[in-house]
Amino acid sequence: MFEQNPYSKLISSYIQRAEFPADPADLYDPIRYILSLAGKRIRPMLVLMSSNMFGFKDLTLALPASAAIEYFHNFSLIHDDIMDKAPLRRGKDTVHQKWNDNVAILSGDALLVKAYQELGKSPADKIPALLEVFNKVALEVCEGQQMDMDFEKRTSVREEEYIQMIKLKTSVLLGGALQMGAILASASKEQQQKIYDFGVNLGIAFQLQDDYLDVYGDPSSFGKQVGGDILSDKKTILHIRTQQLSEGADLLEFNDLVSAQEITKEEKVGRMKNLYAKYNIDQYAEEVKQRYMHLAYAQLESLDIDPESKQEMFVLADILMHRAK
Ligand code: IPE
Ligand code: IPE
Ligand code: MG
Ligand code: MG
Ligand code: MG
Repeated sequence: MFEQNPYSKLISSYIQRAEFPADPADLYDPIRYILSLAGKRIRPMLVLMSSNMFGFKDLTLALPASAAIEYFHNFSLIHDDIMDKAPLRRGKDTVHQKWNDNVAILSGDALLVKAYQELGKSPADKIPALLEVFNKVALEVCEGQQMDMDFEKRTSVREEEYIQMIKLKTSVLLGGALQMGAILASASKEQQQKIYDFGVNLGIAFQLQDDYLDVYGDPSSFGKQVGGDILSDKKTILHIRTQQLSEGADLLEFNDLVSAQEITKEEKVGRMKNLYAKYNIDQYAEEVKQRYMHLAYAQLESLDIDPESKQEMFVLADILMHRAK
């Protein structure tokens, strides 16, 4: 997606140079595998772009922190795919599918340790501040992931609760990546806060798009199982809004589908999509996404920095908001 982007190229060559031991193969092969599938690598791009925006002169010094963020993200995906029983990631088998759950747990753990090892290669004077942000958002991601699983079991979740959950599981990592870039560039606390807040709102819009794509994505390009959220009764914005709007026979149908045991996957996804269509739920998800996107843009606009690098950030944000994978 960003193959030609100069930041992305820097990150790719840095991550490609990373070496992992040959043995035990079932510990390190999954790490090589998930990293080779690459993905969009937006979080490390955000570290570098933010560093650049705040005037950091030598971006190669920001590469370890950006790799740390990407390793953490990949660790969270390996474990997330076990939790979500997901068969596909980046168009290929998930780690637990290709190996097994135990291999996915342990290789994920090892990747998390590798993330810290990378972070430790950052400029020494910046490590305490970087660690503080990294640790804070990493724990928040775990909190968000736990809420996501708790919500699967609940019969109803309010939209505010959903927003709080996605803020934790997804957005704070984008905010943290941007803040870490700002820390490396010795930006002021105030600027750090502003760029973090931009990232959080961008991240909420990003997860809203992810939830939308989980239902309406094109299976040939999305790279993940379409309909997975419906099958797991995830409390996405689409689910929550449909439950709110449904009445009478539609509400019965909705409740039937949520607790359905004996229907096929295709039927569950198909019938739920019919309900979504009836209430124009895709449009609603788009509206909420736009709301957070505009909040993010306003925050970026208010930052007192070089307009050119700001423009670069707007372009990236815009691509993410309209992405198909
Ligand atoms: C997937 O993140 C997990 C979410 C927070 C939605 P990405 O969509 O950034 O995944 P990759 O790294 O590009 O595969
Ligand atoms: C996952 O959200 C966020 C994290 C991995 C922390 P999702 O479960 O929606 O992400 P995908 O859709 O599997 O990428
Ligand atoms: Mg998932
Ligand atoms: Mg998940
Ligand atoms: Mg998803």
